[in-house]
Amino acid sequence: MKKRIGVLLSGRGSNFEALAESVRNGRIPNAEIAIVVSNREGAPGIDKAKSRTIQTRVIPSKGLERETYDRQVAAALEEANADLVCLAGYMRLLSPFFVAAYPRRILNIHPSLLPAFPGLEAQRQALEHGVKLAGCTVHFVDENLDAGPIVLQAGVAVRDDDTEETLSERILHEEHRIYSEAVRIVLEGRFRIEGRRVLIQPEIK
Ligand code: GRF
Repeated sequence: MKKRIGVLLSGRGSNFEALAESVRNGRIPNAEIAIVVSNREGAPGIDKAKSRTIQTRVIPSKGLERETYDRQVAAALEEANADLVCLAGYMRLLSPFFVAAYPRRILNIHPSLLPAFPGLEAQRQALEHGVKLAGCTVHFVDENLDAGPIVLQAGVAVRDDDTEETLSERILHEEHRIYSEAVRIVLEGRFRIEGRRVLIQPEIK
C-alpha cells in the first residue's frame, strides 16, 4: 500500500512541487500525495496541485479559533487517509490538538539552520546577523514555532555579495532536496528518536 502524504501550504508551493516531483520520479518511493490543503484562497500552490490533478481543499482560517480551525483541517486529512503531514510554507502554528492527532507524523521545512533564526524572514535574519553559513532544516513539528526534533539540515555558504533574494534562492534549492530525502526516511521508518536527536538508519540496498 502506498503511503499517503497530506500537504498544508499557504503560498507559492515550490516545496510542495518538489515533493510531488520526487513522488513522481521515485525519489520518494511507494507514496502519493493524497491532498493539498491551504488556509488561503488563491494560494498559487493550490493551482499547482490542481494542474497535477491532486485533490485540493481551501479551508479559510480567518476568524476561527486555532483548534476549531485545526479540527477542520484534521478532518480533511483523515478523510484523505493521510499517513504523513508535510507543512510546506504553511503560515500557521498548530494547536496541541493537531499535534497530538499526528504524533511524529508532521514535518516542516524552515529556511535556516535551526535553532538559529526561527519565524519569518529567516534568510534576512541570517544575512543581517552576518552568519557565514546559512541553510535549511527539516524537523518534526510540535506546538512551538520551528522547534521540534531535527531530521535533516543542509548548509549554504553566505557570499559577500548575497542579497536576501540570492541567498534565499540557493537555500530553496537545498530545501527541495532535503525535504524529499527527509520524507523518504520518515515514510520508510528509518529513524529513531532519542531525546531531541533523530537518529537515521542507513538505507538497505
Ligand atoms: C520556504 O522557504 C519554506 O522553507 C518556508 O516557507 C517557504 C515556502 O516556500 N517554510 P514555498 O511555498 O514552498 O515555495
